[in-house]
Order: sequence, then C-alpha cells, then structure tokens
Amino acid sequence: KKGNYEHFMQKEIHEQPESLTTTMRGRLICGGSSKAKSVLLGGLKDHLKTIRRSRRIVFIGCGTSYNAALAARPFLEELSGVPVTMEIASDLLDRQGPIYREDTTVFVSQSGETADTLLALQYALENGALCVGITNTVGSAIARNTHCGVHINAGCEIGVASTKAYTSQIVVMTMLALAVGADTISSQARRVAVIDGLFDLPNKVREVLKLNEELKDLAKLLVQEESLLMFGRGYNYATALEGALKVKEVALMHSEGILAGEMKHGPLALVDETLPIIVIATHDSCFSKQQSVIQQLHARKGRLIVMCTKGDAPLVCPSGSCRVIEVPHVEDCLQPVVNIIPLQLLAYHLTVLRGYNVDQPRNLAKSVTTQ
Ligand code: UD1
Ligand code: M6R
Repeated sequence: KKGNYEHFMQKEIHEQPESLTTTMRGRLICGGSSKAKSVLLGGLKDHLKTIRRSRRIVFIGCGTSYNAALAARPFLEELSGVPVTMEIASDLLDRQGPIYREDTTVFVSQSGETADTLLALQYALENGALCVGITNTVGSAIARNTHCGVHINAGCEIGVASTKAYTSQIVVMTMLALAVGADTISSQARRVAVIDGLFDLPNKVREVLKLNEELKDLAKLLVQEESLLMFGRGYNYATALEGALKVKEVALMHSEGILAGEMKHGPLALVDETLPIIVIATHDSCFSKQQSVIQQLHARKGRLIVMCTKGDAPLVCPSGSCRVIEVPHVEDCLQPVVNIIPLQLLAYHLTVLRGYNVDQPRNLAKSVTTQ
C-alpha cells in the first residue's frame, strides 16, 4: 500500500496535490463570468444563515487539527465579520469555558474520534450551540454527533503524523469562509482571487514538493541539533506551530513554534550562534515586520534559515549569510498550505537520518481516544 514509498508519512506528504484535488472536487463552482465563481458545501448549505447570524464562531480541536483552524482563522474573520475564537479541546473542558446558544462551534478532527474533542462536542451540545464538524472520517463519532459539517475527503491517513489531513483541513475551512462570508461587491475581487488560487493550489503544491532534495540536505545539516525554533506570524503563525509539532513528534527533536511578535518578550534571550532558527517570511501584509525580525536575529548572530517567496532571497537575506528556502507565491490565506510542506519534508528526513520510527513515533497513537 506504500507503493514506491518507504513510509506512509512520505507517501502522504507527496500525495497532497491529489488529496487537495479530492477535497475540492465538486465544491468549487466556476461559471463563465467571474461572478459565477462560488463554493458549494453540501453539508452546510441549510445552516449558513444560522452561522452568519451567530455571535461567535469557536474553533475547537487538538494538535494538528487545532493548528489547521488557526491557519484558517484570519480569512474566516475577514470574510464573515463574526469574531472567531480558538479553543484547545482539553483546555475548554478544564476551564468549563463559556459556550452559548448563539455560538457556532466548529469541531476539527481528522479521525473524528479524539476523546477531548468529542467531550467538548458533548459540552457544546449541552450548552445549546450549533455544532459543526470538519472531519476526514465518514461515520466517525464527531461526524455523527454534530448538527452538520464537511468531510475533508483527504483519503485514509495512516502515518501518526498528520500531513495531508492538515492541508485539506485548511482548504475546507477556507471554503467555509467563502461560503459563510457575504458575497458583497467590496469582497468580490478577493473572493475570486482566492477561488482561482484554490483551483491552482494542487499545481503549486506539486511545485513545492520539488524541494525534497533541498530539504534532505538541510536535514543532514541539522541532524545532530538538540533544538530548532520556528518563527511565524499572521497566516503563518500556525505554520510555525505545526512545523515544530512535526519535528518534535517524529524526529524527536525539541522544537518550538514562536509567534514572531512575541520575540522580544522572552525568546530573543535564546538566540546565539548555535541555535538554528527557521523564520517564515513569505510575502504578505506582515512581510516588512518579518524583515525587521530577521534583521534583529541577524544582529544577535542567529543561525537563520529563512522561508521566503521565490525571488525574495535578496530582500530577506541581503548579506547572503543565511540559508533560504524559496517557495511559490499563492494568495496569502492559502500560503500556509504551501509553506508547511518544506517543514513536513524536513521533519520526515530528520526522522529517517536520526533512525527513528517515522510512521509510529514512540509513545504516540494515531487517534487519542482516552483523556
Ligand atoms: C455528499 C456525499 C458524497 C456525494 C455528494 C454529492 C457522503 C458522506 N457524502 O457530499 O458522497 O458525492 O454528497 O452531492 O455521503 N456532516 C456532519 N458532520 C461532519 C461532517 C459531515 O454532520 O463532521 C454531515 C453534513 O452536514 C452532510 C453529510 O454529513 O449532511 C455529508 O457531508 P459531506 O460529505 O461533506 O457532504 P457533501 O460534500 O455534500
Ligand atoms: O484525529 P484528530 O485530528 O482529532 O487528532 C488530533 C491530534 O491528536 C493529532 O492532530 C496529533 O496532533 C497528530 N498526531 C499530529 O501530527
């Protein structure tokens, strides 16, 4: 079942152009004129009015599924105008945090069986909120117990490390934002750009997968390290968290995703000539802020690896002294889908080089069905 691949994680990383195509199949409508471009999510169409009128949208999940929701949050806020908040399922339960009848709660889970997410769903149902599921598993507990939802249709994911489900979850939540957001004249150009971007996304993912050898070389360079930091912000704060989760989960290397805006509030003290730091600085509205973060890390002699938009290397690394990973440019809200792929590849190659089990990392289970 692994075909030409040695590991399921490797196979699942490389099949993302196809899994994303399946996720979008039949859901993107492209008529003749630009006005006719839209999104159809069969499972949500009868509930869109309620979602639009809700007081809050609350994303709830664990691990990678939480990170996917975090990546989609800014675009959903932009298009819906509804406040979007984030909850890690276990933390919501620990706090018994407030959930109201006027809330739309969105449960994100690849397996649809994660105990914490399922218990948070029961809690939200008891509190009278509208409960929406986003899951990869038809017939799973979350799919059955939510009022409505969307299957991500990424295909079966076997590697314990979630890869193709993450990118498909982001795409589904981006489509959710397009479906919920009002089709106003002011948002028309933006909507069309994102829908066109979705159509072209599998091609861009195919392009970024060509960096495989480059990431293998980077893994060789980092194989002996004890720690790896990842700095991101805006749309790519989630990329930093998810990249670091992959590295710690499979390569068993300490890694931390850090919000770049928090750098001076503590993490900067860690920076020296030895600790490797990946900075995500692809082109979007946060770019100039990330340029200044790079300058400040550079001034402290940080060992930088910068992920930037193709052609931007001279802008992010004027002295030529840092290593650069150049990725294709896509619409800002879709950039996390492209940007995570080099980090998935890096985590994969680090794991192989360090001799650890890729598909079954120690102490972990694919689906965490106990609290
Ligand atoms: C559905 C069919 C698909 C068919 C398509 C044709 C299923 C599972 N899907 O896809 O095979 O090709 O119509 O139009 O039969 N749901 C939840 N919670 C969740 C996920 C989904 O309640 O977490 C519900 C949805 O609200 C919906 C149903 O499950 O009622 C199916 O969802 P989904 O597969 O996303 O719907 P379609 O894409 O329309
Ligand atoms: O099945 P779920 O999406 O609910 O699982 C949530 C987490 O357990 C899961 O994403 C975990 O963090 C992954 N192993 C990360 O790769």
